[in-house]
Amino acid sequence: MAIREIRKQGDEVLGKVCKQVTVFDKKLGILLDDMYDTMIKDDGVGLAAPQVGILKRAVVVDVGTGRIDLINPEIIETDGEQTGPEGCLSVPGVWGTVTRPNRVKVKAQDRDGNSFVVEGEELLARAFCHEIDHLDGHLFLEKAADIERK
Ligand code: CO
Repeated sequence: MAIREIRKQGDEVLGKVCKQVTVFDKKLGILLDDMYDTMIKDDGVGLAAPQVGILKRAVVVDVGTGRIDLINPEIIETDGEQTGPEGCLSVPGVWGTVTRPNRVKVKAQDRDGNSFVVEGEELLARAFCHEIDHLDGHLFLEKAADIERK
């Protein structure tokens, strides 16, 4: 496991659309473990592969309720609305108010390629939406109001 460099706002890799993962090998597992360690080190609750310079549809999330790896994730259902503060490890020191669904259902694959469905509410739903946006080259700033630098 290793800590990888987090790409920051302005790096063109963050604006690109990521490719589907088709090979579920050891290298993918190492990427996910490195992403998780990098996220934890910087006190994040989610990290997407493009944030470490890899244009693949892979995400790790942990809002304090356990680690969830999402490969090729797709939001298949949303419900309700929440408005609250959001930040990003690629945009350090910046917070913005973002409205997201309050509950989302995500279909994804695990590191071995097995499909599963996971549901998230509140912060977990927010993290799923934020990270999946990264896979399509979107930063939360595009959706944020009241942007604040701390
Ligand atoms: Co982010």
